[in-house]
Amino acid sequence: MLQKMPMLLIPGPITLPERVLKAMAKPIISHRGEEFHRLYEEMEDGLKYAFQTENDVYIINGSGTAGIDMVFQNFVYEGEKILIPDFGDFTERAVENAVKVGAKPVIVKAEWGDVPKLREIIDVIEKEDIKSIFIVHNETSTGVTFRMMEEIRNAIGNKDILVFVDTVSDLGVEPFYTDKWHVDVCVTASQKGLGGPPGLSFVSVSKRALEKGLNNPRRRSFYLDIEKIHKFHLRKETPFTPAITLLYGMAEALNILKEEGYNERIRRHKENAEMIYEFLESEGFEIFPKEEKYRSISIIVFKNNNFDPSKVIKKLYEEYGILIARGMGKLKDETTRIGNVGYEGREEIEYFLKSFKTLLNTLR
Ligand SMILES: Cc1ncc(COP(=O)(O)O)c(C=O)c1O
Repeated sequence: MLQKMPMLLIPGPITLPERVLKAMAKPIISHRGEEFHRLYEEMEDGLKYAFQTENDVYIINGSGTAGIDMVFQNFVYEGEKILIPDFGDFTERAVENAVKVGAKPVIVKAEWGDVPKLREIIDVIEKEDIKSIFIVHNETSTGVTFRMMEEIRNAIGNKDILVFVDTVSDLGVEPFYTDKWHVDVCVTASQKGLGGPPGLSFVSVSKRALEKGLNNPRRRSFYLDIEKIHKFHLRKETPFTPAITLLYGMAEALNILKEEGYNERIRRHKENAEMIYEFLESEGFEIFPKEEKYRSISIIVFKNNNFDPSKVIKKLYEEYGILIARGMGKLKDETTRIGNVGYEGREEIEYFLKSFKTLLNTLR
């Protein structure tokens, strides 16, 4: 059962079920004892299922951004080239991160609302001496999903190029296969598709990425250092004091994912998204992503047209207890975003759409 109100239909965090909230009320335990090791192992098992991987998955204290920092601080060497397809706010952050660690980003750009051209990305893979590629799988700012992982994998072939992917806003919502697609490092966070509380990030790391991280001559972060993280991971612990309360909530969220089933969860989100897109189009709204093929399941972005987002968002929240989000970054005034990353199913989405329609009619 979902906690009653508010219904958060923003791009995370989400409305949590009572089961997850209750799990977070458990007594605190020592993070160096047997009970903690069991909690860690339980989470590890659930995370591997969520990532569809046999790779190690590390638990990081800190939101998705901490997990992404962990990638750049450890697996990207100073001076080397990294390919970054750039099509929104989060891909721009990746470029900034690459520059911070002294790497040289090679950028393939697309206008916001589009994905970069596959041919241009493949050209860079074939011609430039890149050591890695960083892909934002779902651009939360534009509602565009990068559905070209297999093509990228095929283009890389046996080349010594590591693949890093940010799935913060779509793991558990959009199909994503870490092992099948040979993704070396995949990062996600607790508060969206995985159904947990905000504050944690998770990073799956392949053996060859781990080796590269351990051999990095200039790892600068103390807190996010892969050598420490891996050493403690082998003991089923974290190097520093973990957010035990959040881990309890997250472990329960991962149990719920297993009970629902990976494919069923994806199906539910897909059905929700279809209902929302259909409604928006029938109401005359223009969907922001240019091509239907790349429209996100998890973050639905539409143009405001003749609609005052601040007024509608405020009223929807005050009168119906439903929260949707403004546009992000340079799209703040131009677009509105609906998050489809939580526990809602057909019934909740129908309630949302009915409320939204009533509100739109009163404002027109
Ligand atoms: C694609 C993407 N990457 C990274 C982040 C950063 O995550 P956090 O806000 O949990 O630090 C977000 C947050 O929304 C995101 O959507």
